[in-house]
Amino acid sequence: MARGKAKEEGSWKKFIWNSEKKEFLGRTGGSWFKILLFYVIFYGCLAGIFIGTIQVMLLTISEFKPTYQDRVAPPGLTQIPQIQKTEISFRPSDPKSYEAYVTNIIRFLEKYKEGAQRDEMVFEDCGSVPSEVKDRGGYDSDAGQRKVCRFRLEWLGNCSGLQDETYGYREGKPCILIKLNRVLGFKPKPPKNESLENSLVAKYNPYVLPVQCTGKRDEDKERVGAVEYYGLGGYPGFPLQYYPYYGKLLQPKYLQPLLAVQFTNLTLDTEVRIECRAFGENIQYSEKDRFQGRFDVKIEVRS
Ligand SMILES: *[C@@H]1O[C@H](CO)[C@@H](O)[C@H](O)[C@H]1NC(C)=O
Ligand SMILES: *[C@@H]1O[C@H](CO)[C@@H](O)[C@H](O)[C@H]1NC(C)=O
Ligand SMILES: *[C@@H]1O[C@H](CO)[C@@H](O)[C@H](O)[C@H]1NC(C)=O
Repeated sequence: MARGKAKEEGSWKKFIWNSEKKEFLGRTGGSWFKILLFYVIFYGCLAGIFIGTIQVMLLTISEFKPTYQDRVAPPGLTQIPQIQKTEISFRPSDPKSYEAYVTNIIRFLEKYKEGAQRDEMVFEDCGSVPSEVKDRGGYDSDAGQRKVCRFRLEWLGNCSGLQDETYGYREGKPCILIKLNRVLGFKPKPPKNESLENSLVAKYNPYVLPVQCTGKRDEDKERVGAVEYYGLGGYPGFPLQYYPYYGKLLQPKYLQPLLAVQFTNLTLDTEVRIECRAFGENIQYSEKDRFQGRFDVKIEVRS
């Protein structure tokens, strides 16, 4: 037994360094040299190809406009207050219960205050009625920074915070703000008048991308109650003159147009599931992607 073990040990040592054949781990020095040389050249070539490809990619990329952005377009639709689990639940008589939502809205609207939009070099008025998409030239630095359309808080009516600093929460009529996430160069295409449902046709404007909030399931449809929309020109949607967006470098102070939605007669003590959706020819609606052109929010007003 002991002899067997010794023999085994001996063969191990022999494998590591075979002094007869001058082999280290079963290979001669020359063989080791060749194999190392092979790997050095092999990995060198791989690294070369890798660096070369990246250099070529960088040459074709503009710092102003992404070359490949098919994964981000079309833009998502999102709401403020941004909340976890997209659930708003509060008691109108208890300010503490809605404080977080109101604070979130106030913080978001900071850059929409009149005082933040005074700089004439950056901002311009784009009218208070919807108008067509505003082309501001190519997506490069030739013309320098582009102007940004002002967005006035007054347009958000009862959800502007100007009359009611609790944005309706105090009265159990919560407001949410809706925005379309910024996507460089995206020009929304409103749907054709004929393709819309009756409720949207009444407020149709060819220069507005319409948005509608309704109950998600049938039982929610009755519980949602009246829905008020406040947007530019009184239209429930996003006016086109704010598009396209030119990117962080050319429009660092860009303001997305906002739409405020107020639920003025929600059924109390019930979780109401609401779906808000933007309608457009280039806005796809996907059952899989929860934020592609729509979002869900649950609201419960406790008595
Ligand atoms: C806005 O609020 C005022 C005061 O609460 C109310 O009289 C008015 O009807 C509201 N406007 C809309 C469009 O609901
Ligand atoms: C949209 O269609 C409705 C009825 O089909 C019509 O009354 C309305 O004038 C149209 N609006 C526009 C802006 O074309
Ligand atoms: C609110 O909704 C209830 C039914 O849920 C209805 O009876 C009531 O008239 C509505 N109130 C207003 C102001 O629309």
